[in-house]
Amino acid sequence: MGKSAMTARLPKSKGTEMATVYEARDCTRKVKHLVLPERNQRIVQEFMQILEMREEFEQHDVPIPNKVVMYGPPGTGKTLTAFHVAASLGLPLILVRLDALIHSHLGETGSNIRKIFDYARAVPCVLFLDEFDAVARTRESGDEVKEMARAVNTLLQCLDEFGDVSIFMAATNLETELDPAIWRRFDTRMTYQLPNEQDRRHYIRLLIGEFGCQNGAEAEACRLLGGCSFADIEQIVLKAKRKAIIDRQPLHAAHVSLSYEEYAPTPTEVRMQSQA
Ligand SMILES: Nc1ncnc2c1ncn2[C@@H]1O[C@H](COP(=O)(O)OP(=O)(O)O)[C@@H](O)[C@H]1O
Ligand SMILES: [Mg+2]
Repeated sequence: MGKSAMTARLPKSKGTEMATVYEARDCTRKVKHLVLPERNQRIVQEFMQILEMREEFEQHDVPIPNKVVMYGPPGTGKTLTAFHVAASLGLPLILVRLDALIHSHLGETGSNIRKIFDYARAVPCVLFLDEFDAVARTRESGDEVKEMARAVNTLLQCLDEFGDVSIFMAATNLETELDPAIWRRFDTRMTYQLPNEQDRRHYIRLLIGEFGCQNGAEAEACRLLGGCSFADIEQIVLKAKRKAIIDRQPLHAAHVSLSYEEYAPTPTEVRMQSQA
């Protein structure tokens, strides 16, 4: 590790951490199962393959991709994909809370962004900016707008100077609100969607695992949880398993439907509208 790596430090703010470091083994632990649509699976696989063939790409003078943007509704696996990539590459993941970074220290946003990118340029890691759309939310007035405009400029510069030591990943729920100038900086893009029937069944099966299951409970879960995100499905199936354990019974369809009722997931569209 070079001197710059030794001296590179992540910025800290009062109270809220702007960046959290997860070691590769913590990332592995977080990703038990990731269900990706085939297209995203392919993109991730190719991305890893290229990183393993670094030298060959250098020989051909073809730059390696290392800037990924993921967009889609909440609870569909964007954050999980970042952990998966870090785990597979054996790199630490640095999770940056852009919201905390931008709003906590008026006047310091730019230098904080710079410090984080300096770190990632010196120390191999997956630098993950969650809620990336925070840089595009320029609804506030006065000083905030100027601060945000400066932050966007800094971010553009940092992305251009990122180099190829680390991987940059960003996630957003709001594809349309991202500045096109930022959008262009990414070499790899992935869209996330609510699970389709097949992915839902696959995921529910994984979640039930070895747990005893009454005939039809799985099919009922699959039917009932249509339109739910992966995150909602996970919570509801876990809730149903808890009920089954309390009853000292295998999982019944009734456990699933009761859990669904209690959990009352908000349809994603409604939730996203209320956030806007
Ligand atoms: N595609 C998926 N495959 C497996 N589990 C998922 C998936 N998407 C979400 N989950 C579950 O929901 C949790 C939250 O998902 P997350 O990756 O944070 O969603 P997002 O970042 O898209 O909002 C995950 O930790 C995981 O338990
Ligand atoms: Mg997320």
